[in-house]
Amino acid sequence: MSKNKTTFICQNCGTESAKWQGKCPSCNSWNTFVEEIIHKDNKKEIWEDEQSDVKNTRSKKLGEISDSETVRILTKDNELNRVLGGGIVEGSVILVAGEPGIGKSTLFLQACLQMNTITTLYISGEESLQQIKMRADRLKIANDNFYLLTSTDTQTIFNEIKKIRPQLVVIDSIQTLESQFIESAPGSVSQVRECTAEIVRFAKATNTPVFIIGHITKDGSIAGPKVLEHMVDTVLQFEGDRHYAYRILRTTKNRFGNGSELGIYEMSEGGLKQITNPSEILITQKDEQLSGVAIAAMMEGARPLLIETQALVTHAVYGTPQRTVTGYDLRRLQLLLAVLEKRGGFHFGVKDVFLNMAGGIKVEDPAIDLAVICALLSSYEDKPIPMSICFVGEVGLSGEVRAVSRIEQRIAEAEKLGFEKIIVSKFNKKSISSTFKIQISFVSTIEELYRILF
Ligand code: TYD
Ligand code: MG
Repeated sequence: MSKNKTTFICQNCGTESAKWQGKCPSCNSWNTFVEEIIHKDNKKEIWEDEQSDVKNTRSKKLGEISDSETVRILTKDNELNRVLGGGIVEGSVILVAGEPGIGKSTLFLQACLQMNTITTLYISGEESLQQIKMRADRLKIANDNFYLLTSTDTQTIFNEIKKIRPQLVVIDSIQTLESQFIESAPGSVSQVRECTAEIVRFAKATNTPVFIIGHITKDGSIAGPKVLEHMVDTVLQFEGDRHYAYRILRTTKNRFGNGSELGIYEMSEGGLKQITNPSEILITQKDEQLSGVAIAAMMEGARPLLIETQALVTHAVYGTPQRTVTGYDLRRLQLLLAVLEKRGGFHFGVKDVFLNMAGGIKVEDPAIDLAVICALLSSYEDKPIPMSICFVGEVGLSGEVRAVSRIEQRIAEAEKLGFEKIIVSKFNKKSISSTFKIQISFVSTIEELYRILF
């Protein structure tokens, strides 16, 4: 006889409670507890009977494990390979999160179709076979080793996997899956958690890599539980402004590689195209020089990128001046404005300030501060900065320009793209040992910077 257990689960953070509560004691959100029924059946997964080495597992000495056990499957997509830390690790579970309509299904359909040497299985709970066929036709890639399945039941899926024995599985999406062991609705916390747990057990037992696609909520968290992130090996975030064609695939967690890699794509009529030289698209080629534009040499993970920062400083019409940012931290802008006001004597207090990062990219690297300051000053003075100069440096509260990490890589990227001059912090001087053709100017304060530029 099966024992049924009901429990209340917070749909926001996954906290369990024996009774209903109005406010979650863990994440403080209101009215998020939902009653869910959990069947305590004797769980027996379908692949276990054959792949019984799960039961024969014994502990091994580190030396006994051969290196070849971590085999990586290379996809035809170099951006994806890099983001994954050099290909897909066998038996790994990779969660791909993104807003609806950003292009997750397109990316993985495309990646699977391109890998014609291995058997891939794409499981969709969202679209019909015809709809996926239509999309595949649009991508114009033929592949005989590619299988499609539309199902939402985990046991059906594992049954099918047992028949086809794919080398790579994509699940689109985790929110549509349903496990027989749990009675709650698809997409609820316990359902999502249970299905993911089953997939993780499957992946580890059969050494098959699985991509799990998941939707994120408006506030940017993976719908349902945070717990999902702990269960999987790698978490990728697929993001981008819907009004731009550029899409960014970002690693937020990776057990097998760098945890902050980045890949850039462009959504086109024929699917997603890799952007191999992102700096070129992030800098607009202009004939005439405009004020309020400065170029920063920033890092995204281990990759140098040159990006255009644009500022517009106008006289405030209303009493309270506006500060608006896209792709940058508003509080960071307010801080830099305060530094300029206090240390440089510029009256930004009576100005509206708008700041924009090119291409819809969100920048977190503090080394972009110097370029932001330059863009602000350029717009304030209405004097353009030559497009052959780029900037790198963090700005401190007393107006000092601080050293940043990986300075040589940034300089090399600027040189590669044909910049004539790069302005860096004086305190970075000792960390530059290579010789560069590009002219390097050192500054220590923003006053000095102002004197150089204007
Ligand atoms: P989709 O992969 O369905 O998004 P998700 O799975 O993240 O919800 O992407 C849908 C969008 O991509 C849709 O707006 C159409 C667009 N698209 C193209 O621009 N070109 C293409 O070749 C394809 C297949 C889709
Ligand atoms: Mg989709």
